[in-house]
Parts: sequence; C-alpha cells; structure tokens
Amino acid sequence: MVKIDFKGKDIISIRDFSKEEILHILKTTERMEKENFSNLLNGKIMGSLFFEPSTRTRLSFGSAMNGLGGTVIGFSDPKQSSAAKGESLPDAMKITEGYCDVIVMRHYLEGAARLAAESANVPVINAGDGANQHPTQTFLDLYTILKYKKKLDGLTVGFLGDLKYGRTVHSLVHALAYFNVKLVFISPDSLRMPPDDLEELKKKGIGFKEIEKFNSHIKDLDVIYATRIQKERFPDQMDYEKVKDAFILDKSILKGAKKDLIILHPLPRVNELNYDLDDTENAVYFDQAKNGVPVRKALLALVLGKI
Ligand code: CP
Repeated sequence: MVKIDFKGKDIISIRDFSKEEILHILKTTERMEKENFSNLLNGKIMGSLFFEPSTRTRLSFGSAMNGLGGTVIGFSDPKQSSAAKGESLPDAMKITEGYCDVIVMRHYLEGAARLAAESANVPVINAGDGANQHPTQTFLDLYTILKYKKKLDGLTVGFLGDLKYGRTVHSLVHALAYFNVKLVFISPDSLRMPPDDLEELKKKGIGFKEIEKFNSHIKDLDVIYATRIQKERFPDQMDYEKVKDAFILDKSILKGAKKDLIILHPLPRVNELNYDLDDTENAVYFDQAKNGVPVRKALLALVLGKI
C-alpha cells in the first residue's frame, strides 16, 4: 500500500491528487468533525492572502485554523498590501514565508497559485486562482455529496450555469472523474465547459452530455451543482447581461426530480437559486458551506504534518 503523506505538500490543483489521496482527505475531514483537535496546531501561523473577495473560503480557513489552536495573519484587501505599490507575487511569497507556516492564497490570475508555490518554501494552499481551480472547495463539495448520498459512485451530476468561468466546476469534475459518474453540463452556449476539460473527461472515459435546456433532464439527476454567472470574469459586460438570468431554479423544479435530489451551490448566489428552495430537504448548500471548516481543518493539519 502506498503511504499517504501530505507534510509540506502544496494544494494547487485537484489534478495533483490521486483517488486514494482524495479519499484520505475526506476520511480525515470526518475525524475533524468527530474528534477534538483543539490544540493540534498550537504555535502554528497561517498567512491568509486574499487578492480577490471571499466570505466562505477566507472565514472558514480562519475558523479552521483558530479551531485547531493556530493563529492567522494576512489581508483580505490587496490594496492594504504592498501589491498596491507594485510588489511582485514571488517577492510577496518569499517575504510571507518568513512570517508563517502555511500560506492560503486567493488570486484573480489563473496560474498565480502555482507561481506562489514555486516561490515559497512553506506549503501554499490555493483558495481559488481566477477561473482555473478551487481545490479546497472541491473537497468540501465531495464531502457534502458523500454525507448526503453515502457514495460517490453511481451518481448522475448536473452542472448548471457558468461552466466557462466557474473554477469550482473545473475542479470538481476532475475529482468526480475518479468515480463511476455521469455528468450533465447545462449552460448557455457562450458559457460551455472549456474544450480542454471535456477532452480530458473523454480520455478518462467519463460519460457526459452538454445541453442548453434544463427541464428534460431533471428527472435523471442525483445532484445539481448550480453556479453563479461570474460577472467579474466577463471581458464585455454586455455579454454578461445576455446570460445573467439564463437559469433560475425555484421550488417548481422539484416536481419532476428524484425525491432525494440534492442541490449544491458553492455560493454566493445572485438570482440563480430562488429563496423558496432554502427550506426544502433538497437544498444542502448552506450545510455545504459549513463543511468548509472541517475540510480546511483536515487540509491544514495534513500539510503541516500534524495528522
Ligand atoms: N465558495 C466560495 O469560494 O465562496 P467565497 O468566494 O465566498 O469564498
């Protein structure tokens, strides 16, 4: 059996993880929920560098680090950092590694997380890099699916909304590709999944469909993964206006759905999820966000070699 050791490892892309490693992270997350590890990271410091806005990722990482006995330094507004004076990302990393044991970074540029990891001698965790990857979100998405479905195999998962710019989708599909799943991609034509991702899924033998209309497929789905149309990533705001309300899910979709359908969304939502879904048993997105804390506790403990 291959020994799984995450000490010192960067978490940049879901593609860097084997199926066994993903399952190990999910098992460790379960332990974080069930056992008391409140002193595990005593004396450890997390650098929290957010060059893009965040509520869930930043606060759940902070909550996770504090909950394990560690402390947090950093910024949530890059205008308060020396990036505003023109400091390069590699320089910022070389400096920050001297102040902390692990760096959690969100950046607006694709590839920034990889560059940061190459520049820093402490583990770097990608908290989202442009439209590219959001691997820690993927672990909490998988954990949520597993919690409600008790399995990751044999599921039909529908991805809905902005599949072009949605980094959470770009991460999650490659993790799901390790399992026996069927994928349905539902989006306006202009927001289809990137061709490279689809090519990779084909090579891995994953069955998928791409469609523009949602209703005829709802009955097949075990999981809906809805996403926000990522306004901030459109080069032309007129193009955003054309698709911004392409899909709006409300309670009426449940009529044609499996009774145990679960609806996930990385959040924040804008118009795509009606509030009338919130009190249904199918809506698990708030619990999904809450699962960010044990998942991120597991990841911090693992890369710091404490579990
Ligand atoms: N899901 C997610 O990444 O949310 P935030 O942008 O609030 O961190």
